[in-house]
Amino acid sequence: MKYIALVTGASSGIGREFVRQIASGYPSLEEIWVLARREQALLELKEELSGKQLKILSLDLSQDTDLEKLELLLKREHPCIRLLVNSAGCGKSGLIEDQDWKDACRMLDVNCRALTVVTMLCLPYLRKRSRIIQVDSGAAFLPQPGFAIYAASKSYVFSFDQALGRELKSRGISVTSVCPGPVDTEFFHTGEIVLNFWKKIFLAKPKKVVRKALFDAEAGRSLSIYGSYIRIVRLIAKLFPQKFLLWIMGRIFL
Ligand SMILES: NC(=O)c1ccc[n+]([C@@H]2O[C@H](COP(=O)([O-])OP(=O)(O)OC[C@H]3O[C@@H](n4cnc5c(N)ncnc54)[C@H](OP(=O)(O)O)[C@@H]3O)[C@@H](O)[C@H]2O)c1
Repeated sequence: MKYIALVTGASSGIGREFVRQIASGYPSLEEIWVLARREQALLELKEELSGKQLKILSLDLSQDTDLEKLELLLKREHPCIRLLVNSAGCGKSGLIEDQDWKDACRMLDVNCRALTVVTMLCLPYLRKRSRIIQVDSGAAFLPQPGFAIYAASKSYVFSFDQALGRELKSRGISVTSVCPGPVDTEFFHTGEIVLNFWKKIFLAKPKKVVRKALFDAEAGRSLSIYGSYIRIVRLIAKLFPQKFLLWIMGRIFL
């Protein structure tokens, strides 16, 4: 049986950094399956990591036909998934009333629906000490006026992860929600997300976020937060009433 890691969103940003660090930190893995729509970017990553066996899955996770392709491939190859990293995601900021419903569906399809389906498809192939790493966001902790659909999609991921982690405890499999603040990736280059003053100040490097995430996942932690900024946000979200927090968020983000 082949030992593998499967990384979605591997063509750029945090997902690509996961592939790089898994390639160097997990020499016993026989293959890393890298999934995203942009085949060329995945081929470039394969060339960069020439010593490592990368299997390229050029799939669109918002399409059921592509999810079915992944299901078939798993059934055919029957690998042992040591690491599953769900990093594919997208966002668009703006008032809900100004957004196109199709953009809202794209966020929900990739951030929630695809993450759920990929995780479910992989469950039969996980073994004791396998790790599931879900790239969530600090946005999961608070509703965000001006970025509402994205933040709500990430709250879904957080809730899903925590419950799944509990369900998988008896199998010796952990689920880690990675909840960073703003990270310096292509995420902000699409023109769909506003990189405001606050986000610019706290922009983290993907390398550090990923290093901490892998460390926390191996330690079996359910949450990985890089940087004191998001730790404080989480603490505030726990301590203060939501009405007050929404007022603050409105002042900052609207
Ligand atoms: N950057 C931040 O500030 C930040 C902060 C907190 C959380 N996050 C989360 O981190 C994750 C990774 O984001 P990033 O910062 O690395 O941004 P990114 O560089 O834009 O990466 C997003 C990845 O998702 C893939 N993707 C998007 N739609 C897809 C689809 N329909 N099918 C398959 N793959 C798809 C993209 O690949 P293709 O375009 O090739 O398909 C790309 O590899 C996301 O879940 C994001 O919500 C980011």
